Amino acid sequence: MELVIRPVRSLKGTVAVPGDKSISHRALMLGAIATGETVVENFLEGEDCLATLACFRSMGVEITGPEAGRVVIRGCGLYGLSEPEDVLDAKNSGTTMRLLLGILAGQPFFSVLTGDSSLRRRPMGRVVRPLREMGARISGRGGGELAPLAVTGGELKPLAFTSPVASAQVKSAVLLAGLYAQGTTSVTEPALSRDHTERMLEYFGARVTRDGLTVAVDGNPVLKGAAIRVPGDISSAAFLMVAACIVPEAALTIKGVGLNPTRTGIIEVLREMGARMEITPAGEAGGEPYGDITVYSSELRGVEIGGALIPRLIDEIPVITVAAACACGKTVIRNAAELKVKESDRLKTMAAGLSCLGVPVEELPDGLIIYGGKRLSGAVVESYGDHRVAMALAVAGLTADGETVIKEADVVNVSFPDFVETLQRLSVE
Ligand code: S3P
Repeated sequence: MELVIRPVRSLKGTVAVPGDKSISHRALMLGAIATGETVVENFLEGEDCLATLACFRSMGVEITGPEAGRVVIRGCGLYGLSEPEDVLDAKNSGTTMRLLLGILAGQPFFSVLTGDSSLRRRPMGRVVRPLREMGARISGRGGGELAPLAVTGGELKPLAFTSPVASAQVKSAVLLAGLYAQGTTSVTEPALSRDHTERMLEYFGARVTRDGLTVAVDGNPVLKGAAIRVPGDISSAAFLMVAACIVPEAALTIKGVGLNPTRTGIIEVLREMGARMEITPAGEAGGEPYGDITVYSSELRGVEIGGALIPRLIDEIPVITVAAACACGKTVIRNAAELKVKESDRLKTMAAGLSCLGVPVEELPDGLIIYGGKRLSGAVVESYGDHRVAMALAVAGLTADGETVIKEADVVNVSFPDFVETLQRLSVE
């Protein structure tokens, strides 16, 4: 599908964004290996989470829904999964593949995991290496660096793992494998990445301890099925937040968005850029804070972004580059080499997309320099099969002269299936 975006006069209204992708995946995974029933509300019915759901059904887990955002999982306990008859397909989802590897490492059966062409290019060695150290037998292309990966799991040894990257997927894979080890498994990361796994493990009854950048979990816990209401995904809200900033006379309220501090880097950066914004915390659900975000049209200015902030806004960088293009002055993004191994090489793909729209941009080995303030001009741009690149460029198109055409835009279904309808509903023509 090609998406055609024309400039809008304004954006106004109140909206809810779909459920958080990271939390939806984890609710399925922990629900499957807990005992008793887990009822998930506001589950994200995007392709990534549906891939996780299909994988667990293939391992014999009874799951009903999703129906109107509700999923019911009949947990089969830590050791109740059954050997899948066929290859498990994680499709485009790094979270499915990496977290599932952690769980499969502890299973006394054989399984094979694959994904689409983008996922089969992404690095898996970062997860495979610690899982092998714990005792799992994993083989795959490039010595286990790339999917398809074949896993023969079983009882594992605990590990004190120091991760070279600040990655929640790596951390989560090791912690999930740690559930199948006798003793305590810990992960130390160079900067704090999203902590949804450790929050949800605690919520399901596991013993989790934290000390600075180290988090540890005890093996063999009693995980009890739970009720989870998934907050709105701040990574989806980010597209609307930036859109409201750059469109004239806009006022948007996004209700019920997850406000976990490991995810709110986007709020800090937009504030520093001069965004007019109000955050109204509403409470906590399932161990995750949430609230409402209101954003108004703003005069943005360029900023410098790097260091420990990067993992707290890693998925928002594509749309932050659009805010930067519309800001006055230069924005420098550093320490973001991880973007090269996302659904696309987001340093390259965003630089290419912005250049097509007339934005001066320089690619660095670990970031981007964006020279903002010049009026954007509509053009035909590629999504490169990356949902966040497609949506970021669509947001840019809202303020560009003429038409912006995003090719292969159906990829938005990966994380924000009603993105286009939501924009249409909020647009003032
Ligand atoms: C995710 C972690 C991040 C993020 C991804 C979702 C998760 O990846 O980019 O979209 O749910 O754990 P990394 O852990 O590879 O940084």
